[in-house]
Amino acid sequence: MSTPNGTSVHPLVEENRRLKEQLARLNRDRIEYLQNVAHQLVAPLNAIKWHIENLTEGRLSIDRIKKVMRSIYSQATQAVHLAKNFALMSNLEADHTLAALREPLQPVNLCQLLVNLADDYQPQGWDKEVDISVENQALDSAPPVLVIKPLVSQVFSNIIENAVKYSSPRSKIAINGSYDSTSDTVTVNVRNDGIRLKPEETPRVFERGYRAPHAKNAYPAGTGFGLYIAKKIVDIHEGVIGCTVTPKGSVIFSVKLPVKALEGKTRQREPKDRSASR
Ligand SMILES: Nc1ncnc2c1ncn2[C@@H]1O[C@H](COP(=O)(O)OP(=O)(O)O)[C@@H](O)[C@H]1O
Ligand SMILES: [Mg+2]
Repeated sequence: MSTPNGTSVHPLVEENRRLKEQLARLNRDRIEYLQNVAHQLVAPLNAIKWHIENLTEGRLSIDRIKKVMRSIYSQATQAVHLAKNFALMSNLEADHTLAALREPLQPVNLCQLLVNLADDYQPQGWDKEVDISVENQALDSAPPVLVIKPLVSQVFSNIIENAVKYSSPRSKIAINGSYDSTSDTVTVNVRNDGIRLKPEETPRVFERGYRAPHAKNAYPAGTGFGLYIAKKIVDIHEGVIGCTVTPKGSVIFSVKLPVKALEGKTRQREPKDRSASR
């Protein structure tokens, strides 16, 4: 190897320089991510503070109080959502094999989990008259899937949060799913109409930090990490996550999870607090 003025550079020196550059880039990414998350956490927390100030002034009508409480709930959901992604991000970056995570697998009724998440996000939907419905006939009869519940919950939380955020006002978000006995898998689909996503952009949405131009213009705040995290979690569970755009422009996210293929693949330990894992 030689320098521009013709003197030679030892391969180890070159390797050292390359590693230093890589480290500097990783550090820059990390700082950028931290700043991004901190910035996004401030928004819902400030909104909650502002709403509480309004409530304590004490001159609001019952209707107004109901609206303010609903908004506090939405903003708190958003803050919790961001904080959970933030915690997961560092865990999943470090080591992401099922055995390494050492989290217990639990049989999870996906229909119930989705109904709970839809309830959590519906107040955000109401802000723009977006209705979230879980079409639960086929899903309800699907067998429970053996998964790490808080992680899988975060997958659907990230997808539903996007669906609410990127939906057009007065549109519908439809969640459905079904069991396939041949592959012993349950597939869940979340469909919404809103911000345009080009079919050629769909594979990129799972990349770390990617945000499609239309979404970026309409909602400058965003990390581009939600679907990256979702894909990592689905990969850990030996599932498949995909995104398609219909000819009319509806966006559908699909997650296929094995019912019990993971049995015995993680070190089991009792969940500390079952109620906290929703
Ligand atoms: N329901 C959706 N409709 C349209 N585009 C979407 C939808 N969900 C995700 N996307 C696209 O995928 C990108 C990545 O999503 P995500 O990783 O959750 O990051 P963020 O929401 O912070 O931008 C979004 O910026 C957007 O371009
Ligand atoms: Mg998102």
